[in-house]
Amino acid sequence: MRITKSVQKLEAYVPGEQPKSPNVVKLNTNENAYPPSPACAEVLKGFDLDRLRRYPDPNFSALRAAIAKQCRTVPERVFVGNGSDEILAVAAKAFVENDEKIGSLDPSYSLYKTLAAIRDVEWSGTPVSAPGARHAAPGTSLFLWTNPNAPTGVLTPKEEIAAFAKTFKGVVIVDEAYADFARWNCLELATAKDNRNVIVMRTFSKSYSLAGLRVGYCIGPEDLVEALYKVKDSYNVDAIAQAVALAAYQDRTYHRKTVAAVVKTRKAFSKALAKRGWDVLPSDANFVFAKPPAPARAADLFATLKKREIFVRYFPGPLTGDRLRITIGTDEQMATLLAALDEMAQA
Ligand SMILES: Cc1ncc(COP(=O)(O)O)c(C=O)c1O
Repeated sequence: MRITKSVQKLEAYVPGEQPKSPNVVKLNTNENAYPPSPACAEVLKGFDLDRLRRYPDPNFSALRAAIAKQCRTVPERVFVGNGSDEILAVAAKAFVENDEKIGSLDPSYSLYKTLAAIRDVEWSGTPVSAPGARHAAPGTSLFLWTNPNAPTGVLTPKEEIAAFAKTFKGVVIVDEAYADFARWNCLELATAKDNRNVIVMRTFSKSYSLAGLRVGYCIGPEDLVEALYKVKDSYNVDAIAQAVALAAYQDRTYHRKTVAAVVKTRKAFSKALAKRGWDVLPSDANFVFAKPPAPARAADLFATLKKREIFVRYFPGPLTGDRLRITIGTDEQMATLLAALDEMAQA
């Protein structure tokens, strides 16, 4: 047996912890605190088991058509993946030669770096705080622009991303995992007739409360979407996932309501943290990235909160180590966290 050199030296991506205890206040992986649309339960209850005997639709035709209609584009411009993580992996195969780079903002979603390592190509980070226009490193053929960014929550103006894409020779994937919670998004760049290199990617994991289902989608120019279809596993999205995602997607009223609840709580929680002296970056996502007031340290707070069964996310390192990323949960969960922080501040 032989393991390739790139895999031997690979530092595996570390997902946020999924605790066994039901008592944990879980604010560490940007899941949605609210349940999925009731329409999902109906689909599951009525699901004909005979559909599991057969392979699923390899082209997810119904889901694809619904997404195309809602996004005012054609199904040929829509691709669906087993979570948006799979779309990223497929894109890394389809759009990057062995001697080219994958680029992203830095800091950003840490999976990108791992993805480049799995593909055995170089990853190059563009500092988010770089003054002036941001550029990709020479030799980059795939740039992953997270908007709103993670873990910062900060939203880039679409004009900046449009200008970046115009001069960039490779493919730009605007990773809009959190865009439903944001003031604007880049969909119009992806659906534009003259678009040659922008793909906008979304997920059912956050605003649709379906992280356990594993469905993501993206929209882009037809030739790039066709390339993704060529590379994907034949049956990458299972029959149950296609049906449940479609039901959630079509329940626009419920989706709007859930998103509005999260945004409202985010505003109140950001204010509450700021009142306590925290530096809270302006967030357009379902989480905030915040720095505690001195002498408190993010790493210590993370550990102490964990002992109290309140999970948040801590990313060590020079760009991220002075802050905590806190998912927006229910008002009750945020109140529990604030009460714990107040108690800890007095201890
Ligand atoms: C920026 C970003 N992109 C993609 C994903 C992955 O989403 P999915 O669950 O659709 O694979 C995440 C998940 O946390 C994320 O933060």
